[in-house]
Amino acid sequence: MPPSSATPLITAVDAIVTNPMQIALGNFVLIRITTDQDGLVGWGDATCSGSELAVATMVEEHLAPALIGQPASQIEYLWHTLYHLPYYRSGSVHLSAISGIDMALWDIKGKQAGLPVCELLGGTVRERLLTYRSVSGRTFEEVLDEVRVLQETGYQVIKVQVAVPELASGYAVPATAEQQAANDEAFSRGIPPAETWEPEPYVRMLPRLFEFLRDELGDSVQLLHDVHERVTPSQALRLANDLAPFRLFFLEDLLRPEHLDTFRLVREQSDIPLAMGEVFCNPWEGQDLLFEHLIDYARHDLAHIGGITAARKIAAICEARGILTAWHGPGNISPLAHMANAHVSLAVPNFGIQEFDAGWDERIDAVFSAVPRYADGHLTVPPGPGLGCDVDFEAALRHPYVRRMRPTIRRADGTPWAY
Ligand code: CO
Repeated sequence: MPPSSATPLITAVDAIVTNPMQIALGNFVLIRITTDQDGLVGWGDATCSGSELAVATMVEEHLAPALIGQPASQIEYLWHTLYHLPYYRSGSVHLSAISGIDMALWDIKGKQAGLPVCELLGGTVRERLLTYRSVSGRTFEEVLDEVRVLQETGYQVIKVQVAVPELASGYAVPATAEQQAANDEAFSRGIPPAETWEPEPYVRMLPRLFEFLRDELGDSVQLLHDVHERVTPSQALRLANDLAPFRLFFLEDLLRPEHLDTFRLVREQSDIPLAMGEVFCNPWEGQDLLFEHLIDYARHDLAHIGGITAARKIAAICEARGILTAWHGPGNISPLAHMANAHVSLAVPNFGIQEFDAGWDERIDAVFSAVPRYADGHLTVPPGPGLGCDVDFEAALRHPYVRRMRPTIRRADGTPWAY
């Protein structure tokens, strides 16, 4: 399509909930914005794990009517129109909806200009993006084997997670066969699986994993780890000190973001690099962590914090303090968000690393025209205008919503616990 200078007007906004990977991952919430210019359509990602249908309703019933007839080119104007539209603003559902719309508007602007989004953001600052993936195992040896497999494909930074022997499950680790059978049974009934978590055995074990891996691997690879906020503040402080000798690339989600007092203690007592941000649902949430430089890497999720418009502002706040970006990039957000991640990561000066931990197969390729390209430990985006990823609408519709509830996490005494 030749570039056009006429202002495209929005004629339709659709939210499509699709699950091309079936039960293996959650559902994607895709946003399609159609304009009055022939063939000029934008795509964005509004996926919010655990609230997918609520986001789709938010878009179609509560936000889309304010967009019809509006100029698609006025992204900042429309962002603020949508942000202030509901009386009770912010939160995961509202901001995920805005995120998907925002990405679709940037996609339209790029397609209209005939330029990739990274060019609209000031142009690329680097040719490729350092990336990492996660490995996990029930045992230290299993984790080591997985690290070596990724090293052979060029990864220089790897996230490591390991099961606690006393616990049947954990965050991002393989469950025991019995726990997995119980999870599958819960999924088949459409109810949340039940998992048990105790933080103290985990806090005692984790430094031993890093000691083991450093003994086996030396300094041949950089390692990181995600605590997922599953410990108490005092345990977090101890963990930061115990892990510091092993020189992690970063330690992620050590504390709940509201525990600012403990973040300050960790900073005073430990030099371990900290990362946080994937749970934020607003560009300004967690801003004290940035203003006080209590973290080193910003892990915000572009599908939750308000899209590309919000991410470039967060990156600018971080730039002033030397905080680097490490946008959230798991497999349960769609290729559209991964492309948005990559375009912003290419264009900001203070890029740190880009997670691309998708583990997708040909079922994704049947719906999405492109995903970021991996080679030799780095990512690039395929050439093309906009976000560079289009969606086969009919193919997406062939994989409708599947209910797959997140687990309930409880302490051994039954107390509900985090994430
Ligand atoms: Co995380």
